[in-house]
Amino acid sequence: AANDAFVRDIPKVELHVHIEGTLTPELRWKLAQRNGLKVKFGNNGPELHSMEELRYAMNSAEPKTEDEEREFFFASYYGAFDTLKTKQDYFELAMNYFEHVASMNVRYCEVFFDPQGHTSRGISWDVMMEGFKEAQMKAQRELNVRCSWIMCLLRDLPPEDAMDHYKAALPYRDMIAGIGLDSNEYQRPPLLFQEVFSLARRDGFRITMHCDVGQDNTHEHIRQVTSEMGGNGADRIDHGLNAADRPDLMDIILKRDIGMTICPWAYMRYQTYSELGPKMRLLFDAGIRITINSDDPAFMDDAWILHNWLLTKHFGFTDEEIVTLARNAVTVSWASQSTKDDIM
Ligand code: ADE
Ligand code: ZN
Repeated sequence: AANDAFVRDIPKVELHVHIEGTLTPELRWKLAQRNGLKVKFGNNGPELHSMEELRYAMNSAEPKTEDEEREFFFASYYGAFDTLKTKQDYFELAMNYFEHVASMNVRYCEVFFDPQGHTSRGISWDVMMEGFKEAQMKAQRELNVRCSWIMCLLRDLPPEDAMDHYKAALPYRDMIAGIGLDSNEYQRPPLLFQEVFSLARRDGFRITMHCDVGQDNTHEHIRQVTSEMGGNGADRIDHGLNAADRPDLMDIILKRDIGMTICPWAYMRYQTYSELGPKMRLLFDAGIRITINSDDPAFMDDAWILHNWLLTKHFGFTDEEIVTLARNAVTVSWASQSTKDDIM
């Protein structure tokens, strides 16, 4: 357990976590009660009558194919958005995340949010952003956790909708470090969104995009992200683990020093367990700056950033290498230099 203490106590930076993916069954239940809403699984699932039923539904142990697992995840994830209504709800969502990771010694984080999943339900930008902002200030003041935000655009919606949301977010640009691309990757290559990401780049935003494991065309998606998006490629890539299959892709990532946000626990839910350790090792040994993150902890077995970090020990990373992994996240983060100096 002495070794676990080392992993627990090391100062951490989290760069890949969806704030909506931190909505625990406990908090969702509380918000639903407060807002007078029924709780269902998915958008049209049966009504759930207790927090225990909700937790059980979210963690269904039915064996699933990769496609079924993905469909189950998105139904569960998007189905939970409807409990978020007021500024107080958004504040509590973010505070709940900050409190969890403060106990795991996270000092700085860049947190994704999915505005299209909120505006489509009639939530105003002010409600969402002011709730987040208050939590951000309180976390810095009281928990010593600093934060910035990454606005993610949903790739399964039309590029025009992404552009509209990009423009609508500009009044809040002080809070937003970068623009990301997430949601269901099936037949949605990054280049469909080149216009909005090029504009974001010209406007001075950092850019990053998801290239998840287990996707068709994964290598072509990684190539687009690392060499074309926004002009000559993104600043970071989210997941991107399959770059380990292809020396040419690893070369681009290394030459452009593109940070990679790896979420080990997320991949173990698919059939990538035996490949995971070796692929991480290959990327790390090549000198690529991989980082350790949680993705959607409330929807992935309650595995937060610390649980993901503990897996690195399991995969054979030494204490010295673990320090390198922690430094990688500081280096590839979009924090100011003074914040970076403070963290490490
Ligand atoms: N949005 C939230 N979680 C996601 C995930 N795991 N993959 C793609 N989009 C997401
Ligand atoms: Zn993600």
